[in-house]
Amino acid sequence: MFPTHRPRRLRSHPQLRRMVQETVVTTNDLIYPLFAVPGEGVAQEVSSMPGVYQLSIDKVVEEAKEVYGLGIPAVILFGIPTEKDTDATGAWHDHGIVQKASTAVKEAVPDLIVIVDTCLCEYTQHGHCGYLETGDLTGRVLNDPTLELLKKTAVSQAKAGADIIAPSGMMDGFVQAIRAGLDEGGFEDIPILSYAAKYSSAYYGPFRDAAESAPQFGDRRTYQMDPANSREAIKEIELDIAEGADMLMVKPALAYMDIIWQVKQASHLPVAAYNVSGEYSMVKAAALNGWVDEEKVVMETLTSFKRSGADMILTYHAKDAARWLG
Ligand code: PBG
Ligand code: ZN
Repeated sequence: MFPTHRPRRLRSHPQLRRMVQETVVTTNDLIYPLFAVPGEGVAQEVSSMPGVYQLSIDKVVEEAKEVYGLGIPAVILFGIPTEKDTDATGAWHDHGIVQKASTAVKEAVPDLIVIVDTCLCEYTQHGHCGYLETGDLTGRVLNDPTLELLKKTAVSQAKAGADIIAPSGMMDGFVQAIRAGLDEGGFEDIPILSYAAKYSSAYYGPFRDAAESAPQFGDRRTYQMDPANSREAIKEIELDIAEGADMLMVKPALAYMDIIWQVKQASHLPVAAYNVSGEYSMVKAAALNGWVDEEKVVMETLTSFKRSGADMILTYHAKDAARWLG
């Protein structure tokens, strides 16, 4: 018996394949992360992330111009402060590194969307994403005191010119607290992109080198989610939607495409996937060894994020992808 149905008919010619292609990645989908450090003229490559740099603000601005020139609509800013303390002062200070970087980028490239990561881990000396009693070595992050600091952080970031607030610390009620703070501050029109479903993941390792934000003791499992759970992700996004999130993020992306799919089905909000540092470093390492074709592997992965429901992708590959997309 010969088969009646021959799916291969539609694969027989490149133009036919183009016609039936379902998912297309475009430069519109990309968001590029940037790490701002104090100083001037600094461009320090992150050893575990080839091609990714810690940049002083003048260099962040140069990079922002390049990113905009490549057609990428947005960057997300992370900051490494000069000093870290219990109150994460560097996160919410009006002259904090991310505040200064946001203002500088918006001045130089007004049409580039500036997303800011709103969290405390880069600014606390213990490296946790929230407030701990001084001297507490158990790493028990206090939820509600953290909300107050996050609220202050978001308002000062908005004041500095940030276009989108992206809280990433997985504190309960953080979207509601930040929304209230922004509204009180007159920033009703600033959207919140919530890191709604963020897992406690070993794939963040290289990021913690880049952001100098590794927890000094303990881990993040009392606030980030267990990789074994998916229903919990839906609960998290439902809460964030109820609290007023405008967009939702799933993080990491590669090992969590089922979560991206489920979040997409469970909400009507735009969904972002964070193609995190460890995912980037693995591809880079293999590519530098000549073991995989970097362009093909990256584009296949980005396409798969979109196929699984992502409307946008935060990725360290963004500049390369934009170039490959022409
Ligand atoms: C923490 C934060 C993390 C990332 C961004 N913000 C993870 C963490 O250290 O727990 C990870 C991003 C990446 O790995 O690329 N608020
Ligand atoms: Zn954090």
